[in-house]
Amino acid sequence: MKTDSSKICFWVKENGMSHCIESYVNEYPNLMFLLRDRLLLDDFGQCGGVGRCATCIIGIKGIKEGSARKERNEDATLSKMGCTDDAIRLSCQLYVNYDIDGTQIELLDL
Ligand code: FES
Repeated sequence: MKTDSSKICFWVKENGMSHCIESYVNEYPNLMFLLRDRLLLDDFGQCGGVGRCATCIIGIKGIKEGSARKERNEDATLSKMGCTDDAIRLSCQLYVNYDIDGTQIELLDL
């Protein structure tokens, strides 16, 4: 059985480059903070993770079905942007846990 001290890993595509990122489960409050820290992203996650600014928007493939959302703001924010694809998410609304283990993530600029 995996514990919170177990590692997860996933791939992130940014500016045409792929990065393999490893993290411990719950090492960060959410995926946005992890991506911002590891990839040194400017202007990423401007609202601090409440799901309103959409600057942390990503495309994600391979996420576990039914992955928990942190806030209800995600649906409203994505809907205002016209995003209906389930593979488009706000990274601040995803926990750093096994749901994202093995996923392929792309930073989006919509
Ligand atoms: S940090 Fe603002 S919506 Fe995610």
